[in-house]
Amino acid sequence: MAKIAILTSGGDAPGMNAAIRAVVRSALVEGFETYVVYDGYKGLYEGKIKQVERYFVSEIINRGGTIIGTARLPQFVNVDVQEKSANNLKDLGIKNLVVIGGDGSYRGALALSKFGIKCVCLPGTIDNDLSSTDFTIGFDTALNTIIEAVDKLRDTSSSHQRCSIIEVMGRNCGDLALYSGIAAGAELILSSERVMTKEMILNELIQAKSEGKRHEIVIVSEKLFDVNKLAEEIQQKVGMEARATILGHLQRGGKPSAFDRVLASRMGSRAVEAFESCYSSCCIGVKNNQVVVMDLETSLKMPRMVDLRLYTDSERLK
Ligand code: ADP
Ligand code: F6P
Repeated sequence: MAKIAILTSGGDAPGMNAAIRAVVRSALVEGFETYVVYDGYKGLYEGKIKQVERYFVSEIINRGGTIIGTARLPQFVNVDVQEKSANNLKDLGIKNLVVIGGDGSYRGALALSKFGIKCVCLPGTIDNDLSSTDFTIGFDTALNTIIEAVDKLRDTSSSHQRCSIIEVMGRNCGDLALYSGIAAGAELILSSERVMTKEMILNELIQAKSEGKRHEIVIVSEKLFDVNKLAEEIQQKVGMEARATILGHLQRGGKPSAFDRVLASRMGSRAVEAFESCYSSCCIGVKNNQVVVMDLETSLKMPRMVDLRLYTDSERLK
């Protein structure tokens, strides 16, 4: 009987469990023996692989995190680590692997495919940084978490007539900042895709204050500025009290939204079918609301398109 294994890798994301459930259930329906690998590539290297049945994934569609664990294993760039990991699967007769993760995990999957493991990847990351899909699993839930927090910060910042600077995650991708900034009605959205100098930022805020804004919301992508220092500068130069909040890892937790559950279920179900058509390794995405299957290596070379028009829209509406 053909066999499939599943692992989750990199930063966890709400909806990963829904994706695991979809893959396990579809694989069993298609007649595959189904396995999970615990703790990403680290667990794969250590041989933490277990056969599962359909009840293994009961009651998880609504749970955040990943029930099979995830990890980061920097040593996975080494070919001997990759080869041993591939052999751990082959020793059990497993030649098909579903990898749920972000672009780093995709690169790991591509490496494994060179050792004869057919990999199908699913986009599981809050960052929305993959060019092979319009939306990644976890992005929508993280956005909703951010918005809930920003709405609360808006209350207190409005009461105190303060500027609230909120740092959000996203690694090298500004989508969490951009979308949350639009949805929360921020005055300024700062990300690596639309860089503003300190001077531009301060001038914008001075201008807004002179036009009668009594409080301001600024959303900043992580690693762009030291937000506490930025708050101090705003306080001094704009003449408005300012406070910084780093939302941190709470953005990665929580129950997946309906959107993420549906996305994960659609893509997870297609992942199993894709093993038939996929030659060496591929990835699943959603483009224009259609599930698509792409060659993995090609997808990793595709540039990510940023819709800069969204920044213009956000400016008009502030
Ligand atoms: P994400 O998948 O969310 O982007 P990372 O970038 O941390 O998260 O990648 C997850 C894991 O994938 C890494 O810890 C490593 O084990 C593996 N990985 C990342 N980049 C590569 C690469 N170039 N080659 C092989 N494996 C990689
Ligand atoms: O890739 C997801 C992500 O949450 C990024 O947004 C962030 O930069 C990174 O992971 C944080 O990683 P860690 O969990 O190792 O702190």
